[in-house]
Parts: sequence; structure tokens; C-alpha cells
Amino acid sequence: MATQRSNSIHYGPRRHIAIQRERLDALHFEHFETTLLSPCLGAEIRGVNLSQTLSPSLLQELRTALVEFKVIFFRDQAISGEEHAALARNFGELEEHPFLPSGDTPNVIRFAKDETVVGVENNWHSDVSWRQEPSLGSVLRAREVPAVGGDTLWADVEAVYEGLSDKRKAQIEDLNAVHDFVSTFGLGLSDEEREQKRKEFPPAIHPIVRTNPETKRRCLYVNRIFTSHIEGMDSTESAELLESLYREVEVAEYQVRFKWEADSLAFWDNRSTQHLAISDYWPQKRVMERLTIIGDRP
Ligand code: SIN
Repeated sequence: MATQRSNSIHYGPRRHIAIQRERLDALHFEHFETTLLSPCLGAEIRGVNLSQTLSPSLLQELRTALVEFKVIFFRDQAISGEEHAALARNFGELEEHPFLPSGDTPNVIRFAKDETVVGVENNWHSDVSWRQEPSLGSVLRAREVPAVGGDTLWADVEAVYEGLSDKRKAQIEDLNAVHDFVSTFGLGLSDEEREQKRKEFPPAIHPIVRTNPETKRRCLYVNRIFTSHIEGMDSTESAELLESLYREVEVAEYQVRFKWEADSLAFWDNRSTQHLAISDYWPQKRVMERLTIIGDRP
């Protein structure tokens, strides 16, 4: 069937991702082997022990792999919290999350889900986009996972941007959107606490289209859970435009899905991806630990 758009339903391939696949297929590394897990993003890396001190040339290759594949996966990395932090610190300063519970090591966020604490990370987002300087990337390690379920999905928001019509690209070119913690992390706070946190973390205004400073490629930078509205636009128009952009992030052709094992580790670029954790494993246990690396102002 030829590619068609009918009543906003898209049939057929997203042809522009073929170029991405060719570019990613052509990448070669001295220090490790890679297997591409989907045509536009996500690669599994083999031959690296992340508990060891990583040489500058290995780190350089990992950084290239991170920004090109957008999310990189490792298996069997039984690292300690300190080793996890040391790994992430190679890529930048670590953030302290003001709302999420920490694990045993400073800066490590622990997502410990079970029958009583349910998984709520199942909507598309880019980590801490409500900060003035949001995250460069996140490093997530699985400590305990259900036998089945609890996979994580990532979407390539560079491919999403590339796939927009010229008209849509022109429409959003110079628009900014407001990102806010209030409708997520703010929900569990008292009015007083929310007011206090609001002073520390005022709404952040970011361009809808940001350029990844490392690849110089453009990415869509609005997400369903932290973006509240488009600056200076009528609220209905803003909600409709955002909804149409979010629907593009949900297109399966732009995504990769990862099945966790204990000691699997995922490292993603928050500037060029969004992610969600599928919340289908309740009431089983799923324990993950995340470090988030501070990035630049979009
Ligand atoms: C997150 O949203 O950073 C958590 C993802 C996951 O638990 O898979």
C-alpha cells in the first residue's frame, strides 16, 4: 500500500527513517559491538564492563553511541550505586531530584514498585523538562524486574520532528512552550509546599523545537506530562496543537521497546528522545534506579 494520509490516519511507511537506519548501520566502534534494536533509535552494546574505569577513548565512543543511537542498552551490569554514579558523572554533573525518592547512594533515584506503589511513569516525557536547564541524559539500571511486563519504550523526537509536514514545521518554528512540575509532582503536595517549590522551580519556557547541541539536529521538545501550554497562544488552539504533536510521538515507527532483565542498564539522551515505562506488571515488584545528568538550556 502506498503512503497515504486519510482523515489524519497515516497508512504506510515513514520513509524518512530509512536515512537514519543507513546512518546508524554505518557506525563502527573500536571498543565495543553494537546491535541496532529499531531502525531509528536504540542499540545494544556488548563488550563493555561498566564497573571498571573507562578510558577516555572508550568514553568518547560511548558518547558518540549515546547521541547517535539516542538510547544505548547494556546487559549484565551488576554495578554498585557508586559505580552507577561514577559512570554517569563521566558525562556531566548529576542532578538531585527534588520530588522523587532516593536510593542508598546520593543522586540515585529509586523507583520501587509493588502492590501498593504503582508505576505511574507510563506517559511520554523527557526527564525534568520543567527545569530551566533540563536533563542531558538519564542512566537507568534494573535491580529487580517482573518475569513479564514492565518494558520501557523510547521515541525518537528527532525523527518525529523530521516527519512533520513543512506547514507544521513552519507553524512551530518560533513558538515556545511552558513546562511545569505542578500537574505531576505537584499533585501530592499541600498548597503551602507547592507554593514553596514553585518559588524554587518556576515554570520553564523552552522552544518547541530544540537543537541537540551535540548533533546539531532538530528535535520536538514538548511532552504530554510536563508541557502545560504554548506561550502566548489561545488555550484551545494551544491544546489542539500540542495534542497533534503528542500523537506523532506515539507513532510506533519512531519507537524502540526494551525488555529488562535484572542488571540491564539503559542510557538515553533526553534531548532527542521521550520515554514511558509500561505499567502492566502490577501487583508484581519492579525496582529501578536512575541517575540524571544536568544538561544545557534548550
Ligand atoms: C523514568 O521515567 O525515568 C522511569 C522509566 C522506567 O522505569 O522504565
